[in-house]
Amino acid sequence: MTMKQAILLTHIGKLIQIREGLQSPLRGRDMSELPTLDNAWLLIENGEISDYGSMDQLPDTKGVKERNLGGRMVMPAWVDSHTHIVYAQSREEEFVMRLKGRSYEEIAESGGGILNSAKKLRNTSEEELYLRAKKRLLEVRSLGTGAIEIKSGYGLDTDSELKMLRVIARLRSEYSEMPIKSTFLGAHAIPAEFKNRRSEFIDLITEEMIPRVADEGLADYCDVFCERGFFTVEESDRILKAAATHGMRAKVHANELALSGGVQVGVNNEAVSVDHLEFMGEEEIRALKNSETIATLLPSTAFFLNLEYAEGRKLIDEGLAVALASDYNPGSTPSGRMPFVLSLACIKMRMSPEEAINAATINGAFAMEVADRCGSISRGKLANLLVLKDVPSLSFLPYAFGTDWIDRVMIHGDFIEGE
Ligand code: NIG
Ligand code: FE
Repeated sequence: MTMKQAILLTHIGKLIQIREGLQSPLRGRDMSELPTLDNAWLLIENGEISDYGSMDQLPDTKGVKERNLGGRMVMPAWVDSHTHIVYAQSREEEFVMRLKGRSYEEIAESGGGILNSAKKLRNTSEEELYLRAKKRLLEVRSLGTGAIEIKSGYGLDTDSELKMLRVIARLRSEYSEMPIKSTFLGAHAIPAEFKNRRSEFIDLITEEMIPRVADEGLADYCDVFCERGFFTVEESDRILKAAATHGMRAKVHANELALSGGVQVGVNNEAVSVDHLEFMGEEEIRALKNSETIATLLPSTAFFLNLEYAEGRKLIDEGLAVALASDYNPGSTPSGRMPFVLSLACIKMRMSPEEAINAATINGAFAMEVADRCGSISRGKLANLLVLKDVPSLSFLPYAFGTDWIDRVMIHGDFIEGE
């Protein structure tokens, strides 16, 4: 591999989210601290952050290309730890049904929702699926996402789930400068052909899909939609245990529509994260407090489906580790725009700007186990960075919810151009 040209960014107004040696996600009160350095420089070598410091101690880097940022701020790119960007088609017809008063669950029960996406995906070629997912990946990259987790779950039969996971693997090799994690979500919905034979579908997942996915090395994690009308606690437990024996760590979609027991089943299976959490009781909070599991909140989903928002403020006050992600998918969140997630976290969940930025960068990186590569300004991490436009302060970022305040996105040391 050829060495990339080194680049020295100078006159950075504020270098945001500087961390060295952080070993675990930020929890509780620690989430309100966001270390920054004013009037800074940053040296990037071979696509990685090699050093940084204050402008009054600028190193002698003769021959290195310099770029004067004229006081603009720099921060790490977003780490979006929960998405479903491999899908065949959008579902705006269901959006219109909801506008007329039908609920997400009613639409799902009548064969819409995830099953609608599965029907379309099964009829879409792998190549076409790749091209559509790639377009979304490039879209979110241009919005500042520098690492992303992507789930299967719109196939719901072995071949179609494998097809989705191969698309993720191809994205991962094509865009290797951007950490991508892959999650098997076979338990996303009971497919129509198993409607009255649920336990046979669970058998198919545990006995056929998981071993195949593991054999082909196609997934880092196994996720389950543990929710009223979808998968029960017992079914989720069986699936996560089978996945663990095949080396896949757990993630859970929990408590989006009601208290589902999903948090507890996730914690009991040492899940990396439990995600959604619009509904939370004391027992759920206690379970998370005594665990390493990250609470990942997805406020764009609550926005789009008109749900109650997760209680981000309360979860942080209780001392939990909170991450933020987009949940980009065709049914409940047709958006991967992380700056909007940031604004919703502050406005609707009462998180502070510092907490929200921590949740969407370093805690997101822990939620997809890439914190050694991204999520903060740290020596040796990937130079996946955002150069901001001329903004007055950090708090301006979630405040200006409609303003496009990202100037340039750098991935692996290169500023990306519109592809
Ligand atoms: O995270 N909750 C389950 N899965 C997605 C929605 C899937 C869909 O409607 O297509 C979510 O919200
Ligand atoms: Fe999701």
